[in-house]
Amino acid sequence: MHTAITDRTALVTASTEGIGFATARLLAEEGARVWVHGRGGVRLGQAVAALRRAVPSAEVDGVAADLAADGGVRVLTAAVPAVDILVNGYADTRPKPFATVTDAEWTTTLRNNVAVTATLTRHYFEHMLASGWGRIVFIASDLALRPLPVMVPYAAGKMAQLTLMRALAEEAAGTAVTVNAVLPGFTRTERTEGFLRPLAARHGMSFEAFMDAYFNDPAFPWRDEVGFGASLVRRLLEPEEVASLIAFLCSARASGMTGASLRCDGGTTPTAL
Ligand SMILES: NC(=O)c1ccc[n+]([C@@H]2O[C@H](COP(=O)([O-])OP(=O)(O)OC[C@H]3O[C@@H](n4cnc5c(N)ncnc54)[C@H](OP(=O)(O)O)[C@@H]3O)[C@@H](O)[C@H]2O)c1
Repeated sequence: MHTAITDRTALVTASTEGIGFATARLLAEEGARVWVHGRGGVRLGQAVAALRRAVPSAEVDGVAADLAADGGVRVLTAAVPAVDILVNGYADTRPKPFATVTDAEWTTTLRNNVAVTATLTRHYFEHMLASGWGRIVFIASDLALRPLPVMVPYAAGKMAQLTLMRALAEEAAGTAVTVNAVLPGFTRTERTEGFLRPLAARHGMSFEAFMDAYFNDPAFPWRDEVGFGASLVRRLLEPEEVASLIAFLCSARASGMTGASLRCDGGTTPTAL
């Protein structure tokens, strides 16, 4: 499919790995100029190099900004003043049982997932309105709709992103700026593997056998420890599967879609709508 984003500039926040990286790669393959973003250092350099290798024709650069730090948004917007496409991939996950979350952790998690994302988005949104074309995609989470007890502040932040998404879509009414959200389910990324591999090892299983049993064996004894719900595709999603939907929403082809929350969760959320 020709997605007609050649000559568009895209920024994907938190894109040195995982869903962000897969999205940056797809946008680069579609011909966009892509900013890869992370906290900097070796990981950012490696991600940029990997993208340039994977898509030699693409214009790819890296930008470093710690969005959890004070002034992080200013650092990012000073280095990249305007883009046509913004994918909000940055998240503060911080898993912890609800009862043990402190006031300070609530403040920080909501600041990082909501206020930081809102401030960053406002900056680029204004440029998009002025230029007359734009795409904003929030990478939210299926947990916005079915919060896990161990990730309540994160899930609340993701739900708030859906509110923000809808408000901005309404504010952009009558323009060619679209604003949408994608809700991924359980996806194979460094972060999820970092949590699951030690769990599998603790139960004396290989990662692959553990995940296969989680998704396919009704008698799997450690379901609650994994806790990510019953997937209809019965496997972890791959980052590229989520990135495909995001890249489509960023494309000129998706001009009729705005203000929408779209699930890419392997059918985990148990409702038709
Ligand atoms: N994986 C899943 O199962 C899943 C499910 C639902 C929703 N999601 C959502 O999808 C998005 C991507 O998730 P993911 O699992 O692929 O990746 P992730 O683990 O959430 O994020 C990894 C990226 O975040 C960057 N990062 C971390 N802290 C940062 C900071 N303070 N400032 C700037 N960048 C920072 C890292 O860059 P450096 O380390 O290079 O700094 C890296 O590129 C997130 O919004 C997540 O909530 C993921």
